[in-house]
Amino acid sequence: MALERTFAIIKPDAVAAGHAGAIIAAIEKSGLSIRGLKRVRLSGDLCKGFYHEHVAKGFYQELEDFMTEGPVVMMCLEGEGAIAKWRDLMGATNPANAAEGTLRKQYGTNIGRNATHGSDAPGSAAFEVSYFFSAFELV
Ligand code: RTP
Ligand code: MG
Repeated sequence: MALERTFAIIKPDAVAAGHAGAIIAAIEKSGLSIRGLKRVRLSGDLCKGFYHEHVAKGFYQELEDFMTEGPVVMMCLEGEGAIAKWRDLMGATNPANAAEGTLRKQYGTNIGRNATHGSDAPGSAAFEVSYFFSAFELV
């Protein structure tokens, strides 16, 4: 397996509910390294650029309203097979289908309000990390 970087968001629902600390603790316990971390609030324009693959979809406005409703915590995670490892920790997109013990099962509410984001492939990971982090913020 290769050393990879991936991009993670603790979404507004989980931050507002006070679950950011527990999610960060789960990441540290998993062996993934946190290379970058910041707490920000997304604008609609930033959200459109980030979720560009979903902008034309029927659920997009709901997704943007959710992602901009309050602060998020974003991270760059690094480790062997980090992209799949972080997706496994998160669980399925719909918390109702997520495995026991996964973050979305524990902290998600429904398919829209699902607590976390993770890049789905090496190309999207590279794009998403560079979309939100500058080189000096990755240490
Ligand atoms: P993410 O990008 O946030 O990590 O989630 P994902 O890969 O598991 O799922 P994706 O298909 O990329 O969808 C992105 C986010 O859009 C919201 N969504 N809502 N109402 C709906 O039918 C619906 N479908 C997707 C979710 O917040 C999902 O995480
Ligand atoms: Mg996705």
